[in-house]
Amino acid sequence: MKFPKEFLFGGATADFQFEGGFAEDGRGLITHDFVTTGDVSTPRRITYQTPDGKTGAVDWKKESMPPEAVGYFDETEKYPSHYGVDFYHRYQEDIKLIADLGMNVFRFSICWSRIFPTGEETVPNEQGLLFYQKVIDECQKYGIEPLITICHDEIPAELANKYDGWSSRKTITAYLRLCQVLFERFGKQVKYWLTFNEVNVLRGYSMLGTRSVDEQTFYQASHHIFIASALATKMAHEMLPEAMLGTMYALSPVYPLTCKPEDVFSQVTARRKTLFFSDVMIRGTYPNYQKKYFEKEGIKIVMEPGDLETLKNHTLDYIAFSCYRSTTVNQESQYDIMVMDPNPYLPKTKWNWTVDPMSIRYVLNEVYDRYQVPAFIVENGMGEIDRWDENFYVEDDYRIDYLNNHFKEIAKAIEEDGVPVLGYTMWGIIDLVSLSTGEMAKRYGLIFVDMDDFGNGSLNRYPKKSYFWMKDFLEAFHEK
Ligand code: BG6
Repeated sequence: MKFPKEFLFGGATADFQFEGGFAEDGRGLITHDFVTTGDVSTPRRITYQTPDGKTGAVDWKKESMPPEAVGYFDETEKYPSHYGVDFYHRYQEDIKLIADLGMNVFRFSICWSRIFPTGEETVPNEQGLLFYQKVIDECQKYGIEPLITICHDEIPAELANKYDGWSSRKTITAYLRLCQVLFERFGKQVKYWLTFNEVNVLRGYSMLGTRSVDEQTFYQASHHIFIASALATKMAHEMLPEAMLGTMYALSPVYPLTCKPEDVFSQVTARRKTLFFSDVMIRGTYPNYQKKYFEKEGIKIVMEPGDLETLKNHTLDYIAFSCYRSTTVNQESQYDIMVMDPNPYLPKTKWNWTVDPMSIRYVLNEVYDRYQVPAFIVENGMGEIDRWDENFYVEDDYRIDYLNNHFKEIAKAIEEDGVPVLGYTMWGIIDLVSLSTGEMAKRYGLIFVDMDDFGNGSLNRYPKKSYFWMKDFLEAFHEK
């Protein structure tokens, strides 16, 4: 396996799955704070209650932010973002573990409401900024490049409740205020930025801050995200000439189930549901196939004068993506990226995710052929049920195989196909709470965290077998 000398190899995390520190140092509430464990796609996820017992959108006042807002939560429920795995207090130990592995990049996300508790303050919360400053400084101490996701599937709850989140243009203004502060404070130390995480799968209250999940709302909110991202890109390019701006897309590929021409064409239309987002943000224009789809479905995107120029003039510098698995589609299936259609040629994890190392080479080629910008694989990894011994040691050979086989395919994409790849950050480098299920049981890490689904455990960290494998792998990589 050969990787370029400057290749960035590291780990990835997201604030509400990882940090904890929920009601500390002036942090406001984000939409994910109301998400309980369970399936993300069911309305049960948004179980929140006002003090008078009503359920639905919380209509609190500014002065009732944490810790007072604790009264809004149902004591019988579990809210993963309230505890995470305590990176907030253990960041030094965690970054050291990552550095000891020989990694040179660490992806983490900013909790928006740590910086602007309601999203609408004019002055940022210094304590929130200080936390991320310390994280960045700690990375720098070890020569680790920080890769910052500005917004990972969340929004301050106040913006969601007051404006219906991203369905309003007011959220663009609030987001740009966040970007400006981040670029000003951290721009000298941070080169790689992601404006958003997985924009193509954001839906509903927890992710978009909208109450409705219908297509009209989804595409209108997406348009506002496109504009916000383009304006953030413009701002960064003006303020920080060295900065590289990307957005992250969930790109696990879809294959035609058979070679029947109708099935093959259904793959083309299914894939467009995903690539539409990167088409707008990297090509800088709404594609014809999507305009036709909007016409057919009666979807009308409200735009302001200048929006189309903004998209055209401020496209991204690189494409970032997640790729965990692949799925299939045929003429009959109603394609949905979250649905795991079977592939008879591939094994599956306990969560029914296929294990398909070639998928990553496929996507790297697909996006480079389409966009001719460098790629950054910012999420990949294996969520499995780990077993540990009395010393909390996990022998996760399945994870080692998964990673090793994916790395081989990435190396082929670089070496044999000539795809420029900036780097790779493995998802959930340290065990964290699952996004889709809120479980701890679905572990991705090279580092085990002693905590169970009910929040019990010491939270101590223990390297798994895969940690030592990765360390050897990276040692060899750095020698080249
Ligand atoms: C990506 C998200 O969709 O997949 C992460 O960006 C998430 O936040 C990851 O954790 C894995 O999904 P899950 O549901 O297994 O946690």
